[in-house]
Amino acid sequence: MTTFFNDFTALYDQMFPWEARLRREGPFFQRLFEARGARSVLDCACGPGRHALEFARWGLAAAGSDLAPNMVAAAEARAREAGAVVEFRVASFTELAAAWGPARFDAVVCLGNSLTLAPTDADVARALGEMAAVLKPGGVAVVHIFNWDKLAEEGLRIMPALAAKMDGRDVTLLRLFHHRGEVIDLHLVAMARREGGVDTQIQTAAQRPVGPDRLVEYARTASFAEVERYAGYDLAPFDPAASEQLVLVAAK
Ligand SMILES: C[S@@+](CC[C@H](N)C(=O)[O-])C[C@H]1O[C@@H](n2cnc3c(N)ncnc32)[C@H](O)[C@@H]1O
Repeated sequence: MTTFFNDFTALYDQMFPWEARLRREGPFFQRLFEARGARSVLDCACGPGRHALEFARWGLAAAGSDLAPNMVAAAEARAREAGAVVEFRVASFTELAAAWGPARFDAVVCLGNSLTLAPTDADVARALGEMAAVLKPGGVAVVHIFNWDKLAEEGLRIMPALAAKMDGRDVTLLRLFHHRGEVIDLHLVAMARREGGVDTQIQTAAQRPVGPDRLVEYARTASFAEVERYAGYDLAPFDPAASEQLVLVAAK
C-alpha cells in the first residue's frame, strides 16, 4: 500500500478540498492542544503534510512522517514553499520510536483513516504502542478511522466522487471500499476524459478493518490510560451502530 499512495501522491494532494477540510477539523485540534498544553506534535501518517503545516502555522513544533517517500517529498516541498520549519521523515507508524526517539512529543495524530493501512491487527496494535512510546508522559494521541464494524456490514461502499487534475486533464476519482472477509479493498478509480473516450486507471490497497472496540482494546494495551471515542471532529458522541467515523482520543 505504500506503492499505492506513493504513486498517487500528486492526485491525493489535490483531491480533497484541503482548506475546507482544515477549517472543519482545525478547531478540534486547537482546543485539544490548548487544553493539554501541547507544544509539539507529530503526524505519523502525514501524507502531503497539510495537517503538520497547519499545526506549525499555529506556532507548534510540528513534525511529520509517512511510509511513502513521495508523500514526504511533497510535504517537504510545501513546507519550503511556505517558509515553515517542519521536520518530515520517511518512517512507518510501526517504528516511530526508532525514527523520532522516545518521549519526544506532546501529541501524536494519525488521521484520514491511515491506521487501517497497517497490514495486520498486530501492526495496528504495534502502531498504537509506538505512538505511546514517542509521547511524553501525559501526552495525547488522536486517531481518525472509519467505523469499520458499520462499513464492513455493507459489503460495498462507494464514496462521493472527487475531482482533480492530472497532466492538465480533468480527472474524476471514485473510492470504492469492498469488504471481503478479514480485509477491505480500497479501489481508487481515476477516470480522465480524452477525445473519443475515457482513460481509466484502477489501483487497489488492502485495508485492515479494525473495529472500534478492538481499537480501544489495543490503545489500552499500549498503555493509554484515558481513551475517548467521538463520531467526528465536532465531538458528537460515538454510536457503534450509526456513526460512520471514529475519532479516538487517547491520553497517557
Ligand atoms: C489516506 S492517506 C492519509 C493522509 C493524511 N493523514 C490525511 O489525513 O489526509 C494514508 C497515508 O498513510 C500512509 N501510510 C500507509 N501505511 C503507513 C505506515 N505503515 N506508516 C506510516 N504511514 C503509512 C500512506 O502513505 C498515506 O500517505
